Amino acid sequence: MTKKGRIFSGIQPSGRLHIGNYLGAIKQFVPLQETYETVFGIVDLHAMTQSYDTGEMSERIINAAVNYLASGLDPDKAMLMLQSGVAEHSELAWILATVTPLPWIQRVPTFKEKARNQPDNVNMGLFNYPVLMAADILLYKSVAVPVGEDQRPHLELTREIARAFNQRFGEFFPEPEEIIMKGNQSRVMGLDGKKRMSKSIGNCIYLDDDAETIYEKVTRHGVTDPARVRKSDPGNPDICNMFTWHTFFSDKKAQEECADQCRNAEFGCMDCKAVLVRNIVETLEPIQERQKELMDDLDKVRDIIRDGTERARKIAQETMKEVREITGLTYLD
Ligand code: TYM
Repeated sequence: MTKKGRIFSGIQPSGRLHIGNYLGAIKQFVPLQETYETVFGIVDLHAMTQSYDTGEMSERIINAAVNYLASGLDPDKAMLMLQSGVAEHSELAWILATVTPLPWIQRVPTFKEKARNQPDNVNMGLFNYPVLMAADILLYKSVAVPVGEDQRPHLELTREIARAFNQRFGEFFPEPEEIIMKGNQSRVMGLDGKKRMSKSIGNCIYLDDDAETIYEKVTRHGVTDPARVRKSDPGNPDICNMFTWHTFFSDKKAQEECADQCRNAEFGCMDCKAVLVRNIVETLEPIQERQKELMDDLDKVRDIIRDGTERARKIAQETMKEVREITGLTYLD
């Protein structure tokens, strides 16, 4: 079968992967392997823009790779690659920076948010973050990029950068579409229901949390309908973050039962949470089984990353050869 083109997406190894990463991103990567040529990156250069413990980086890369694979990425179909293993990402990022006007970056909401969150570390890497991301995508001439809703501004900027490059040097890069899940899965809220689930905030259920931890987190910290104080108060599932989670993990029947019994105050929030926990645990069970197998064979995981990185590098080198030609960087050839 001929594939529909190539896609790239990436995950930062800036902490353990959580259910937001799974529902918003990885879950949609899996079927895309069948129809597209796929490159999935562990983008460690991006993760360097936040302060981090150098000794922990390898562990985080392993966590990302294991979760990619445990969630269904097939190394025979997709390239699982490490960004720092393909130097062309940084090289293209520099070239793209030269066609990116400063105000385009200044208005990126994620830059503003990160600068607010880490006021003592507003480094140039943080500023260049969206340009490096554009390089990740364009290096593979990606036609589409599957991501969660929070990445939409980055994708818009990537298209603008592609257009600016093409205008300056001639038509070369395709303008990639974003592929974003419909509904709440594209923006999974954290336990408190106030902020998006995020590795840097830590308001997460991690993909390797055990049943007991999930139970503790959901029952203690999972925020429900704020107006419902007693079990005898009728609740409103429409404004309950835990009910939204039901829509991710529970079947239609369980969702309807929980919603009805919440509305007529037959079910308390703890009853509803007990069903939710069971369904989260059940959903994560097969993923966690594969995680364990992979953690017992880390040599295999490293071989998969090495192989994916090498395959990705070949494509990246071809693109950069062309980029050097069209930008006039051929003097020593
Ligand atoms: P990162 O590492 O924050 O997240 C990885 C993927 O998970 C999605 N995601 C979510 N989806 C739904 N609900 C949530 N709460 C949630 N949190 C995260 C993200 O949208 C993303 O798809 N900048 C990127 C990494 C990156 C990249 C790229 C992505 C670098 N280069 C090129 C695509 C293409 C990031 O920080 O993702």
